[in-house]
Amino acid sequence: IRDDPLAVGDYIANYIAKRINDFEPTPERPFVLGLPTGSSPIPTYKALIKLVKDGKLSFKNVITFNMDEYVGLPRDHSESYHTFMFREFFSHIDIPPSQVNILNGNAEDLIGECNKYEARIKEVGGIELFLGGIGEDGHIAFNEPGSSLASRTRIKTLAFETILANARFFNNDISQVPRMALTVGVATVLDSREVVVVVTGQRKSLALSKAIEEGVNHLASWTLSALQMHPWALIVVDEDATAEL
Ligand code: GLP
Repeated sequence: IRDDPLAVGDYIANYIAKRINDFEPTPERPFVLGLPTGSSPIPTYKALIKLVKDGKLSFKNVITFNMDEYVGLPRDHSESYHTFMFREFFSHIDIPPSQVNILNGNAEDLIGECNKYEARIKEVGGIELFLGGIGEDGHIAFNEPGSSLASRTRIKTLAFETILANARFFNNDISQVPRMALTVGVATVLDSREVVVVVTGQRKSLALSKAIEEGVNHLASWTLSALQMHPWALIVVDEDATAEL
């Protein structure tokens, strides 16, 4: 628990930097980092960018996989997760673009795209550390309530609550929010050697308490609770997010 979102971002950025710096990558086993979008990770991204600019961290030997992407939103749309990631992070660090992996929500064969993504993760040796955020209903990536704990990368119809919550990025007009997304599955996240989740703000407090103080539950909601089954999971929160604990 840290005081505020900035302190949370600093903590996670330093944590990730240490993990990358302590890791000895080989061509067979690079450092593979899973990344989220949303407003919650922005302070972390800002702090990571600063570490790169200060010469304390490099992404030259890091391969990234993003968690999710909207279906049917043009790649250059200002709210596509592709645009978001380059605007908020990748354009400001030293990662070669060929090492960035983001699901293509405009692929002709969406199921094939999801299967290829899983295969690519396997090919590079699996994800070392998955950074995630959560929705107000406790979803991780776009694993909406009811997502199977065994789920893999797939097409997911967004819950109405998620469409409502994300309308703020689409001129507050729910008709502009895509109805579907491609997302890594709960099992894809659980397969990662380590998971770090950022939860900030009071509006996430109910999800946080349900996910860590109650049982594993993906049906009623609170997919984040699946992390209780992960051997190495860390949830970094601010004071506001602890309101219901
Ligand atoms: C979307 C993303 C999630 C993210 C969530 C919360 O639903 N698919 O990965 O965790 O938004 O976003 P925010 O951090 O802006 O509250």
